[in-house]
Amino acid sequence: MSVSVLFVCLGNICRSPTAEGLFKAQLEKVGLEDVVATDSAGTGGWHTGNPPDKRAISAAAERGIDISVLRARQVQAVDFDRFDYVLAMDSANLSDLQALRPEGFTGQLSLFLDYAQDTAQTQVPDPYYGGDEGFEHVLDLIEQAAEGLLADIRQRHLT
Ligand code: 4NP
Repeated sequence: MSVSVLFVCLGNICRSPTAEGLFKAQLEKVGLEDVVATDSAGTGGWHTGNPPDKRAISAAAERGIDISVLRARQVQAVDFDRFDYVLAMDSANLSDLQALRPEGFTGQLSLFLDYAQDTAQTQVPDPYYGGDEGFEHVLDLIEQAAEGLLADIRQRHLT
């Protein structure tokens, strides 16, 4: 693998495993699954070892993506040594990551939606306490950002 991407949210059971699964499916579609490695983690550790939220699993499954095998873990400082991109779902996640970021990190630490071309929205809203429509919205936002992220990876690393 020549490039690696870590998606980060709060619990690692809703937004970031959804982003990981969807982006991986996109990589497979374009034949880059052996070039770009993906993972996800949470700034909090409460759900460590757990599968994604049932609602996230069904929303992804409706779009043909299986995220049921993923398991939650907490992000660690050492992740900055292992990943080229560390992408936060919202600004709270980003500031927690900025506090954890080692001095020598030379990769990209940013909001995931910074890669979305067609939306002014910067936050992937936390769907945990809401209804099923929140998970659909998360998927729609992630789809847009995934496309821009792939373009950035191609430009920075694969040209
Ligand atoms: P996520 O959603 O950050 O998208 O995985 C959440 C999941 C669990 C909790 C908060 C957000 N929680 O407080 O347990």
